[in-house]
Amino acid sequence: MKLLYTVILSIVFVSCVDKNNDKTTVTIEDSEAQLNYHEPYRNQFHFSPAQKWMNDPNGLVYHNGVYHLFYQYYPDDIVWGPMHWGHAVSKDLVRWEHKPIALFPDKHGLIFSGSAVVDSENTSGFGTKENPPLVAIFTYHLMAGEKAGRTDFQTQGIAYSLDNGDTWTKYEGNPVIGNDGIKDFRDPKVFWHAETEQWVMALVAGDHVKLYHSKDLKNWQLASEFGRTPGAHGGVWECPDLFPLKVTGEDEEKWVMLVSINPGAPNGGSGTQYFVGDFDGTTFTPTQAHDWIDYGRDNYAGVTYNNTPNGERVFIGWMSNWQYARDTPTEVWRSSMTLPRGLSLHKESEGYILKNYPVASIKSLRSESSNSPEVSNDGQLSFEDNELQQSDITFEANLSQALTVRYQNKVGEDVSIVFDPLQKEITFDRKNSGETKFSEEFASSIQKQSYIPKNELVEIRILMDASSIEVYVDKGRNVFTNQLFPSEPYNELKIQGEASSTIENFTSHNLTSIWNHHE
Ligand code: FRU
Repeated sequence: MKLLYTVILSIVFVSCVDKNNDKTTVTIEDSEAQLNYHEPYRNQFHFSPAQKWMNDPNGLVYHNGVYHLFYQYYPDDIVWGPMHWGHAVSKDLVRWEHKPIALFPDKHGLIFSGSAVVDSENTSGFGTKENPPLVAIFTYHLMAGEKAGRTDFQTQGIAYSLDNGDTWTKYEGNPVIGNDGIKDFRDPKVFWHAETEQWVMALVAGDHVKLYHSKDLKNWQLASEFGRTPGAHGGVWECPDLFPLKVTGEDEEKWVMLVSINPGAPNGGSGTQYFVGDFDGTTFTPTQAHDWIDYGRDNYAGVTYNNTPNGERVFIGWMSNWQYARDTPTEVWRSSMTLPRGLSLHKESEGYILKNYPVASIKSLRSESSNSPEVSNDGQLSFEDNELQQSDITFEANLSQALTVRYQNKVGEDVSIVFDPLQKEITFDRKNSGETKFSEEFASSIQKQSYIPKNELVEIRILMDASSIEVYVDKGRNVFTNQLFPSEPYNELKIQGEASSTIENFTSHNLTSIWNHHE
């Protein structure tokens, strides 16, 4: 049973507008919103802003015991508008605390996507070695330039914080990278490259990535380019990321480049491709063809954390798609983030596979597993549960046999995942999932990913929230992340296999709401 309670959340926006470096501070204390986090379709264990529009995760960085989540935010409406960086923090990547807006537009433009680093050696001089600055690196988007038909309206800026992200000061020398005529020139991801002792920035430029070097985060030199030919090119490249990953079970390290693309994803609209290769501090060289991190429709602009405590590579994506992001049927806020996911690299006969799988701390939301499923002797599993809409279900199946997994509700809506070993395909169908008519693109086609049927038990884990589903096959080898808007909660799960031995070790947990601590 969901707890029904109402919370008066008082949101105090403190707005600092830099106008030619003289600071105007606007305090809006009257935006007291009555929120209960149980509005229709409000996800209960995924991050969403208290209210208004959100898109990409930005500035993912861990510092002094907290994970920061900044995000593209428009505080005045539930559609995209002049971008700010919203801000939230978490100790466990699961339970989030909302913070005041971190970065506001200024004379150089709106604040588009970017990253944040801990400048431990104080290379920028913004702090001290004892109190190293957090430095945010972002894109300025100058609306007036765009409207005037110019091509140089996106530049790169930086800002720093000496109080672990609570307040930010823009660098007076902004922009730190100007633009000599590249229309789509944005989304800087910066990291420290220890071997060559310098900062590296990956920045997209229309159809490729440019890599830059810096010693101090202020002065940047172009180092190399990647991607004019390799990879998918059905749309604009956005939100790059570049990081090393140890190959699981091998004494080997490879580098992974993430590049989001819109449109041009395998199942339509926005999606994120990955490249595996080598990086020498200057040049990224792919060693195999690209693939996609997720074959669902709603995982975009995802990037990874800098500075995680144990070196874990943690990814968060925006759980939407530009094809219909502005049209989804919510009213108070719009869109959520994916669950935070650990990335891992695996060497297989067909090359390196990048897996993404929820971080372990999600399990801390699990309550006792409740009902048991009914299994008939012809291999059909049927599970009824009023908490299915907020659940974490795991089972194992032999995917060399056909299998259909279907969630359904009392009004005849359903969503299905089919494993078809003959076609060597996994399909995901949300055509009859509930509200779909808000956009022609939302449920127009069945999503597909090819897979190699294995004659062994494979884990299937499915996390269902109020308006999303995340399907992880084989610990994140195949992933489908999708929004869903059922008119009644799904309360029944049916798994139909070919033989009674198909499904094993079924467990189901209700996940408690991450917003309960507002009580
Ligand atoms: C990706 C994106 C970025 C840009 C931001 C603007 O979704 O288009 O390329 O910086 O959103 O909000």
